Amino acid sequence: MNIHQQYSLKKHNTFGVDALAAYFAEVTSIEELKELLTYAKEHLPSHLPLLFLGGGSNLLLTQDFEGLVIQLSLKGISEEKLNDDEVLVTAKAGENWHEFVQYTLRKNYGGLENLSLIPGNVGTSPMQNIGAYGVEIKDHFVSCKVLNLQTLTVDEYNNAQCRFGYRDSIFKQELKGKAVILEVTFKLSTRNHIVKTEYGAIQHELQKMGVTNASIQDISAAVVHIRESKLPDPKLIGNAGSFFKNPTISTEQFASVQALHPEIPHYPSGDLVKIPAGWLIEQCGWKGKQIGNVATHEMQALVIINKTGQATGKEIFEFSTKIIESVKDQFGIELEREVNII
Ligand code: EPU
Repeated sequence: MNIHQQYSLKKHNTFGVDALAAYFAEVTSIEELKELLTYAKEHLPSHLPLLFLGGGSNLLLTQDFEGLVIQLSLKGISEEKLNDDEVLVTAKAGENWHEFVQYTLRKNYGGLENLSLIPGNVGTSPMQNIGAYGVEIKDHFVSCKVLNLQTLTVDEYNNAQCRFGYRDSIFKQELKGKAVILEVTFKLSTRNHIVKTEYGAIQHELQKMGVTNASIQDISAAVVHIRESKLPDPKLIGNAGSFFKNPTISTEQFASVQALHPEIPHYPSGDLVKIPAGWLIEQCGWKGKQIGNVATHEMQALVIINKTGQATGKEIFEFSTKIIESVKDQFGIELEREVNII
């Protein structure tokens, strides 16, 4: 195993930000990961911070990382038939998420089709409970295996133990920096699939495709079309998907905002009201706006892009602060970043 020094992370984050890692190594198995951690403890400067990377799709590097970056490239997919209707599918952390979803669809396993084309790797999907078009991974997640970084033992977390919430889990809270996800197991349907097409954009896309009785493969194709038309491809323009979470506000606060903006889109969320952050940002005049190397995407104001390819993480962070201030001034609503800031 090679440990690189002063290694550029430009190719390892979808924003395409050029920050350096003091040390960098890639691991392809649990054994290699344990070996690396033990080596680091014994041979590298003590208290070196660690940063684990999957697809680097939810990450903003605002400075060089003065620690050890570990690229998790564990690969492999296995299956276990549960009964005539269901199968357990386990993927290792380093599998690319969309390729994994495509694999399940080729096998005609249902459940993950609405989550097609989400950037990133399987191992990071539980961290923020990735979700799109009415489905979150918690809906099909059974368990994951994680390496406890203190004891170097492998523990298993079931669905309830992961405490999934909207773009949230135990891995972003109590276990932050304490555990590394090694593999994830999903329960998928093998027949009589329950398709979720309620989301307006999906219905519209299926109509355009001329599909009436949508198969899981049709839904995936519809989602891919929608995402390709609205979201920038990180291979072409650096971005990390939605930069902020959609905020939830009290019904009282909502009533006062709605009085001034009757057209405000909103969804119920428990006792609260969820507002699309993209709408708030657009209303403040930020859609497509560029400052220096950074802009918001013309088709979706919630996505911040490295417009010129030359943006620094600091520049992107400062741009996002300006958006937060604008939305706060105009609506009294505080946006929260969804992207992991280093
Ligand atoms: N809108 C605007 N202007 C914009 C963008 C959105 O007015 O520039 C309004 C529109 O009214 C639109 C509504 O916001 O109807 C919702 O927009 P969209 O369907 O694009 O969804 P979103 O709430 O902005 C969320 C997820 C996305 C996910 C989509 C589809 C979050 C933070 N983002 O976006 O996830 O793909 O729903 O389900 O919850 C990601 O996390 O990286 C991501 C792309």
